[in-house]
Amino acid sequence: MQNVFEYLGGHEQRFIEELCEYIRFPSVSAQPSHARDVSSCAKWLVDHCSSMGLKSELCATSGNPVVLATTLKAGAGTKPHFLVYGHYDVQPAEPFDLWTSPPFEPRLEGRKLFARGASDNKGQNFAHLKAVEAYLKTGTELPCELTFLIEGEEEVGSVSLASFLSQRKKSLQCEAVVISDTGIPGKKCPALTYALRGIAAFEIIVRGPGRDLHSGIFGGSVDNPAMVLSQLLAQLRDARGRIRIPGFYDDVVPLTSFERKELARLPFKDRDYQRFLGVPALFGEKGYTPMEQRTSRPTLEINGLTSGYQGDGSKTIIPAWARAKVTCRLVPDQHPEKVIKAVRAYLKKICPPTVRLEVASGHGAEPYYTSPAGAYAQAALKAVGQAFGREPLLMREGGSIPIVTEFRKTLGVDTLLVGLGLPDDNAHSPNEKFDLDCFSSGMRMGAMLWQELRGVFDARKPKRRLARR
Ligand code: BES
Ligand code: ZN
Repeated sequence: MQNVFEYLGGHEQRFIEELCEYIRFPSVSAQPSHARDVSSCAKWLVDHCSSMGLKSELCATSGNPVVLATTLKAGAGTKPHFLVYGHYDVQPAEPFDLWTSPPFEPRLEGRKLFARGASDNKGQNFAHLKAVEAYLKTGTELPCELTFLIEGEEEVGSVSLASFLSQRKKSLQCEAVVISDTGIPGKKCPALTYALRGIAAFEIIVRGPGRDLHSGIFGGSVDNPAMVLSQLLAQLRDARGRIRIPGFYDDVVPLTSFERKELARLPFKDRDYQRFLGVPALFGEKGYTPMEQRTSRPTLEINGLTSGYQGDGSKTIIPAWARAKVTCRLVPDQHPEKVIKAVRAYLKKICPPTVRLEVASGHGAEPYYTSPAGAYAQAALKAVGQAFGREPLLMREGGSIPIVTEFRKTLGVDTLLVGLGLPDDNAHSPNEKFDLDCFSSGMRMGAMLWQELRGVFDARKPKRRLARR
């Protein structure tokens, strides 16, 4: 192992330059204008994995391509196989004027690398690739067989990946999936995430007159879609964030006292959090701490609101339509389809007859939960602790990685979430950055993981044989 760590330390400068190359592709999956950048990024990644010594393949899907890169050879032996998942697509970088430097021209400031996608998720998945490169280039035997699956649609709901998984089910059979696409409380405070929220995305469209109307000639006699939409939205949630849709909380599994204790151990100060976010006061459901509210309770958020005239000056109209993009974050055991059904029924009930209402459902992902007491989770905790030189904590997180529940359904395996992002990485915000100390710890963690996980596999093997007899 010593030569692996020496290799990682000795080549860090080159790794950073390569990471910058990776980041320079504006692989924004949400914007069709970036379709070519998305596929160029995937091609670069395939070539890069090949140059590292992995068998790499650019796989077409019904959407953006998937990159598969593996150590597996035909007729390979007895090592356990693990999947490492990541995504090469990024969120849109707008609004550009809020960036200190252009989002796709990586800028190094001390140990901070600023660029869209630096933390979410290119820097994090690149750390795993480099850890494996260190094994391959030093001729050190990898304790496990590994397949990297790096996709290009995570930021838009991983819509094409589920069917890709079923098609490739056989070659992707594995012990568990490893993902670094979550966060840790601090670079000296590592953690293992054992639960993620799910998501249900939908759009509410309210249509009124067939065209925008003069608000003086017609106003008062015809309803205003923007006003109706606002009134509908206002009835979805109360002033403390409790959702008012009947049935919404039916399937919510309450937090256990162990989980509440673990969340309370995380370094978190309400005051600092409030200052960091720049809000005049925090907000949230009664009876829960901000950490619980943001990781373990369901929510309903308006992500975008559009209607009427947005240009300079004023325009006196009654707009023909109004629309809102909304997402609910879900917790175990809520289901996106069931939630959307409840939303639709409630909106239909409260919508006045003066407008036409449409609730168009978008992407969805189920919430994820796995026991942190499992043997692989304990082994991952050990690797994380060794790499960061600190005892890792256990946490739940509020974000979503849609494919994790599909890994369980299709491949029958759990996911180990070993994040490298920091709370001030500005994921999805202007001035995203990745801390290079997290990059180095992440590479060391990546190197150690395979030893620890192999240990669990070996300890299990005899039991399996006994069970089979
Ligand atoms: N890396 C995030 C997910 C994440 C972030 C999980 C922080 C836990 C903590 C991922 O790239 C992401 O942003 N996912 C989207 C998924 C959505 C578009 C379906 C999300 O959570 O908004
Ligand atoms: Zn993201």
